[in-house]
Amino acid sequence: MAENNPHHGFGVDIGGSGIKGAIVDLSTGELVSDRFKIKTPQPATPDAVAEVVRTLVDMAAWDGPVGITVPAVVRGHIARSAANIDSSWIGTDVLALFSHHLDGRAVSVLNDADAAGIAEVELGDEEAKRGAVLLLTLGTGIGSAMLYNGTLFPNTELGHLPFGDTEAEKWASSAVREREDLSYKEWGRRVDQVLHRYSALFSPDRFIIGGGVSRKFDKWSQHLTVEQPVAAAQLRNQAGIIGAAIAARDGIQP
Ligand code: BGC
Repeated sequence: MAENNPHHGFGVDIGGSGIKGAIVDLSTGELVSDRFKIKTPQPATPDAVAEVVRTLVDMAAWDGPVGITVPAVVRGHIARSAANIDSSWIGTDVLALFSHHLDGRAVSVLNDADAAGIAEVELGDEEAKRGAVLLLTLGTGIGSAMLYNGTLFPNTELGHLPFGDTEAEKWASSAVREREDLSYKEWGRRVDQVLHRYSALFSPDRFIIGGGVSRKFDKWSQHLTVEQPVAAAQLRNQAGIIGAAIAARDGIQP
């Protein structure tokens, strides 16, 4: 049905807690179906997750190409890391996996933060296209998309930057705020420290913050002291779904 409209695509965003999918109008970035969401199965093995993706596609009655984000490095069709999903993803051919579970249809599979970066450049913040931009997704982990004049350097994984005796995402992700019951002030200061570190290492012109907590940006952005402008992603938490759908349309496959 819906794929008769050439501007429509389908994106799925696989996260540590939920798997979300929707039909996207790729000329505007609007979701034109419900946003279907199913809890991430535990253990989040490749086959269990791919079956959920299949269910979401069926719920939306979509039978065109499907773009899928994973919270992992994807290079040459192969997942090469697995920080917040089952370790059996490492070495999995993600193209073969999803195309098998989706009866051979065309799929694109890429890192979740990279997808958010691609979406924000095309349909979100105009400033995402200019200069050196670091887009960070704060969720179960911290994802990163490094952009220069709108071009993505894929798989940067800055959430794993060593930080004190831990790593950035174990100190300042959104999940850490919930787990440690931090106030927005306490947590905002942690995010600020992480941004200072990224600033010292990469000197971006701008930071863009995505992930669920970007919707609550006003509650914590006053605690940021880094010199660069920091903005909430205009596509908010839908950026991953939208970027996945763009990747499927363009046949992007890292
Ligand atoms: C993963 C990244 C992912 C990020 C956000 C990290 O733990 O290593 O690949 O982009 O979480 O989901």
